[in-house]
Amino acid sequence: MLDHNTHSIKNVETIFPFLKSDERIHYLDSAATSQKPQIVIDAITEAYIKYNANVHRGVYQLSEKATQKFEDCRMKVAKFLGQVSTEEVIFTSGTTESINLVARTWGEENIQAGDEILLTVCEHHSNIVPWQILAEKKKACLKFIPLNKDLRIDIQAAEKLINDKTKVLAFTHVSNVLGYISPVKKLIHLAKKHGAMTLIDGAQAVPHFDINVRELNCDFYCFSAHKMMGPTGIGVLYGKKDILNSMPPFLGGGDMISNVSTSGFKTNILPYKFEAGTPAIAQVLGLGAAIDFLMTLDREDILSHDRMLGEVALAGLKSNSHVKLYTTSGDDWVGIVSFSHLSIHPHDLAAFQDLHGVCIRAGHHCAEPLMNFLETPATIRLSPFMYNTRKDIELFLEALASAEKTFDIH
Ligand code: ALA
Repeated sequence: MLDHNTHSIKNVETIFPFLKSDERIHYLDSAATSQKPQIVIDAITEAYIKYNANVHRGVYQLSEKATQKFEDCRMKVAKFLGQVSTEEVIFTSGTTESINLVARTWGEENIQAGDEILLTVCEHHSNIVPWQILAEKKKACLKFIPLNKDLRIDIQAAEKLINDKTKVLAFTHVSNVLGYISPVKKLIHLAKKHGAMTLIDGAQAVPHFDINVRELNCDFYCFSAHKMMGPTGIGVLYGKKDILNSMPPFLGGGDMISNVSTSGFKTNILPYKFEAGTPAIAQVLGLGAAIDFLMTLDREDILSHDRMLGEVALAGLKSNSHVKLYTTSGDDWVGIVSFSHLSIHPHDLAAFQDLHGVCIRAGHHCAEPLMNFLETPATIRLSPFMYNTRKDIELFLEALASAEKTFDIH
């Protein structure tokens, strides 16, 4: 059983060195990026000390060792996603590049004038702008599924918006602003009924629960390592093999070709076809270590810890008549809390919290269409994770009370 007054895992100070680096800091911005466990930091250091050679190129042993380590990590990702084939695991720089890759290559081949691309209003800009670029180029039409009164994706509205002209249904697995888990199976079922391709932005989901893309039956799944305790600069695009094979290449360069002549080139086999240039080798090894670490944890326990901390914040905010809350708790929620203050601008409040060592994000969270839907320019967001305690939330609530006093709000 977890003790929610402490961390969700044992020896947390040893596991996460950031906790000891500045004890004044109370980090509540894990949806922006997560803190890194020692095992990930060690894997990156080791990559440069013990395995520093380019992969897929050298005939010497060091390069072969580096290649082996690199490809072992691809196997870890394949397992992490629910035992997919390693051919279906493409390394990218992150979720943003993964979505752009699909929009530029699959979209280029499959979208025509008059086609429809269906998104939701709670998408991150990374899952909007690549489709806007595509739609503009191809004269396709973008549509957005609204949220219902509980600020969850409105399935009835989705049923009305989708039709046989819909070629893509792309949506987030978990909203980065509200923390709600999307009704993925229902949305995928709907897309399949109309023959639409499905892409899931899993950036905010992979840190919180297990993913099985085979069970979900989505065509593409994208995520970034840095939100799940891995390094920045590395992410994954999962795609079904036959779809990936049918797509043209994305970037041109080394690794993605099987041969080049002055008259043309032939693409490499999967997954290398989509991996041009020297990959982010140390970051891939860091991602592998993050997966190893996640696999040692009871992820349900951690999710319940994150929710409990979110609930402590919600309880403190609910009783505050100056606060407009956008979050309610539930089984479809990962513990993120978003709100606005009727008298203090989100940026002022976040700066004030910083004076107390509390790190929270304020702004539109790269989700301006959602801000418009919520009729607010910005929100304040807390995103607790396994290394947070009730104390972090209590300090946030105390700093809020202190800000109201300073701003003379009664
Ligand atoms: N997408 C990240 C966030 O939600 C940066 O904060």
